[in-house]
Amino acid sequence: MQKHKARKLGLTVPDAFVRGIRHLGYRSNVEAIAELVDNAIQAYAEHVDIVFGYDGTDSQKKPTQIAVLDDGHGMTPDMIQLAMMWGGTHRENDRSGLGRYGYGLPCSTMSIGKRFTVISKVAGRSAKQVTLDLDDLNNGKYTDNEGDTVIPLPCDAEIPQFLSNYINLLYLDGWESGTIILIEKLDRLDWTTTLGFAKHLDQCFGVTYHKLLISTLIFINGNPVSPTDPLFLDPSHTLCRIDNDRAIALEPVSLIVNMPTGPARILLRYSYLPPSFASIDKSRDAVGLNANERFPILKDYHGIIFSRNGRLIDCKTKTPWTTFINNDRYIRIEVEFPASLDELFGVTTAKQQISVSPEMWDRLQEAGLVKAIEQLRGRVRSLKTARTLKNTVCAFPKAVARDKQESIARSKTTSSAREKGHRPLLLFRASNGSLSLNTDHPVFAHGGRPNPITLQTALEALLSAITNGRRDDTDIRRRIVVEILTDWGRSLDPGLSSITDILASETY
Ligand SMILES: Nc1ncnc2c1ncn2[C@@H]1O[C@H](COP(=O)(O)OP(=O)(O)OP(=O)(O)O)[C@@H](O)[C@H]1O
Ligand SMILES: [Mg+2]
Repeated sequence: MQKHKARKLGLTVPDAFVRGIRHLGYRSNVEAIAELVDNAIQAYAEHVDIVFGYDGTDSQKKPTQIAVLDDGHGMTPDMIQLAMMWGGTHRENDRSGLGRYGYGLPCSTMSIGKRFTVISKVAGRSAKQVTLDLDDLNNGKYTDNEGDTVIPLPCDAEIPQFLSNYINLLYLDGWESGTIILIEKLDRLDWTTTLGFAKHLDQCFGVTYHKLLISTLIFINGNPVSPTDPLFLDPSHTLCRIDNDRAIALEPVSLIVNMPTGPARILLRYSYLPPSFASIDKSRDAVGLNANERFPILKDYHGIIFSRNGRLIDCKTKTPWTTFINNDRYIRIEVEFPASLDELFGVTTAKQQISVSPEMWDRLQEAGLVKAIEQLRGRVRSLKTARTLKNTVCAFPKAVARDKQESIARSKTTSSAREKGHRPLLLFRASNGSLSLNTDHPVFAHGGRPNPITLQTALEALLSAITNGRRDDTDIRRRIVVEILTDWGRSLDPGLSSITDILASETY
C-alpha cells in the first residue's frame, strides 16, 4: 500500500487563522471565483466551467454548491495537498502568469463557503480529491497526535452527480485531465438568486478576461461568456456593434520601463464614446429604462482601467491630477502592464486591487496620460455640444419644414430678381457691426438644405474674397487677415469635426 505523508499546515492556531482570513480580501464572490478561473487559465485549460449545484434542495433559486471545472493539466495527489495550503504554490513569485502568491485557491473558496474539495486528474491517471471543512477543522478532525493540523490525504475522487451529468453532456471526448474546485456550505453568498449571480459572473468575466477568452473559453452553467472590451474598440465583440454608435480610438502609446529583470512594456489604450453610446433612444440620455446593455460597463468600469498580464484587475477614479466624475464615463483609458511591474503598481495578494506608486504615476504622466485625459474630455464635450445642437433642430421639425418651403419660395423670387438685373445676394449679412448667415442665399435652397458642393464653392469664394480683399490692400493687412483666419480655423476645428461626424452619418 502506498504511504502518504500528511502535510502540516504549519500554524499553531489554524482554525482561528482560517476563520479570520475568510473575511479578508474579495470585493465579492465574483472576484473570488475569478481566482479559480485564473488558476485554470494558468493550467492551460481550453474550457473553464462554472457550474451550480442544488444538492439538498428542491429549488433552483439559489445554489447550494458551486464548482469550477477545467480541462487543464490537472494536479498530482501531492500537488492537490500543497495547493490547499495557504501559501502553497508551485510558482512562488513567478511573473509569467496570473498567480504568484499561493493564497488564491484556499482564500477564495473559504471566502464563499465553509467547505471545499479539490478534485484533480492528470492525463492517464485516475482522479483524486481532498476536502477541507471548516467545521471539521474547528472540531479537531485534522489535528494529528502531535497536536499539529494536517491537510487530509488524497483519496479516490467521487464526482458529484450534477457534475458528472454536466461532464457527460458537454465534454464530448470525456474529461481526460483537469481540476474541479467544489465549494459547499455556502454561508457567504452575495447574491440571493442563481440568476443574479450568473448574470454578474457573465458580465464581470466578459470584461475581466476579454483578452484571454481567445485561448480559454469560459462557460457559466453551459452558457459561453462573451468578451467585452471596456474601451469598446474590438469590433468582434457583441456590445461594440449593437447599434450604429462606435467608440473612437486615440493612438495607443507604448512605454518601456527598464527593470533588473529586463525591459517591461506598458501599453496605454484610449477611446471616447459618442454621447448616445449607452442610450436606446439616441436623442435622450442613458437614464433609467433608456440605458442599453453598454451602460453597466460604462458605470462599473469607470476611470483608469488597469490590466495585468491581459487580465483586468482594477479601475481607479482618483489620480494625482484629476478625479473622474460621472460625466467622464464616456472617456475610456486602459493601462496594460506585465506582472514584472507588480511592485510599481502596488498589486495586492488577491490581485484585484492596485495602489500605483508615485514613481509610476510620474512615468504615466511623461507618457502623455494627463494630456490624453484632457484631450478625451474635450472630444466628448464637443460631441455633446453637437448633439445638443442637433436635438434642438430636430425638436422643431414642423418649423424646419416650413422654413425650408419659405426658403425655396424666396430663392425662386431671388432668381427671378437676378434675371431682372438686381444685385446678387451675399452669403453673409452685416448688421449692427456683426456678420450673420444670409439664409435667403440660393445655396440654402438646394432641396431645402445647403448642398455640400455649392456650400464649399461659396465658402471658398468667401475665403478668397476676405484674403484677397481690395486691390489697394497693403501686405500687412493681408497678413493680419490670414492670421485671423488661421486662428478661426483652429477654434472652429473641434466643433466642426463633431458636426462632420454627425453629417457623415446622414444621407444627403
Ligand atoms: N485549476 C488548477 N489546475 C492546476 N493546478 C492548479 C489549479 N489551481 C491551483 N493549482 C495549483 O495550486 C497552486 C496554488 O494555487 P493558488 O491559487 O492558491 O496559488 P497561486 O495561483 O500559485 O498564486 P496566487 O495566490 O497568486 O493565486 C498553484 O500554484 C498550482 O500549482
Ligand atoms: Mg492562483
